[in-house]
Amino acid sequence: MKNDENIKSMKLYNDVDRVYNELKEIGKNDSDSLQVNELTSFDQLHYHGTYALDYAIKKIGINSNMLILEIGSGIGGPARYIANKTGASVVALELQSDQHKVAMDLTERCGLAKKVEHICGDFITYNWQGKKFDAIVSWLTLYHIVEHNVLLKNCFNYLKSGGFFYAEDLFSRKQFSEEELYEISKEMYGNYLPDLETYKSEIERSGLKLIDYQDMSEIWAKFTHERNLSYISKKDRHLRVHGKKIYENMNMFYAFMDRCFSQGKLGGIRITAKKS
Ligand SMILES: C[S@@+](CC[C@H](N)C(=O)[O-])C[C@H]1O[C@@H](n2cnc3c(N)ncnc32)[C@H](O)[C@@H]1O
Repeated sequence: MKNDENIKSMKLYNDVDRVYNELKEIGKNDSDSLQVNELTSFDQLHYHGTYALDYAIKKIGINSNMLILEIGSGIGGPARYIANKTGASVVALELQSDQHKVAMDLTERCGLAKKVEHICGDFITYNWQGKKFDAIVSWLTLYHIVEHNVLLKNCFNYLKSGGFFYAEDLFSRKQFSEEELYEISKEMYGNYLPDLETYKSEIERSGLKLIDYQDMSEIWAKFTHERNLSYISKKDRHLRVHGKKIYENMNMFYAFMDRCFSQGKLGGIRITAKKS
């Protein structure tokens, strides 16, 4: 499924500096200190922002004694929110160096650098040198990773016993054509989209015990549709704040995700598992 395009073919990952345009818009210069809640309308690169994080915090009982690993932490929105809200220590692992750099800057300016450790690396190959986590969490990242079995095996190995695996991820509801798969690999760097049954059985085969899952497909179809319409309706604002190139890139990305979900082939899953 993977093609030769690199991850930057996904337009969401271009122009990471758009965060600084948003900060300027709320009157912050490049060195001002920040509050986590000033960032949450633009630093959450998944669906339903901090509501989704609150759900996970409650579901797996994240608290101040826990060490959490987030796989694919983007510009650090979920990691900062979780650390700030629960007092947990969070290790935020991100593949792309530009996202990682912005994440570190924002975390530092939020005064959270002691609670959130940002690491730039690939979860498939990263050597944790024996470190183990109370929970491994991830939002809208795992579908990028073609080596899904290695990913799950690593999760199993890096969890303490009794630790939780929690992910929000994508799957295939119906089979995609070769052409569609090519487009998906380019526009959303979608490299692993099994059907729901395969998704669940691979979790169980990794040794993790499946606790709960929800098919989020309809809810995320509605979310991505409304996000697309809302972005277009605020075109003048986005052009003023970000300029034409960023507006067009984001517009194309949001429209693509809306189309994929509304056609009924792309699905979303929220899944919780445990290492006994
Ligand atoms: C859609 S973003 C979500 C970011 C963050 N979880 C959030 O919800 O705001 C997915 C992120 O996963 C990262 N990623 C993809 N493959 C990865 C890997 N193998 N190891 C670490 N990060 C990865 C991407 O670079 C991207 O920043």
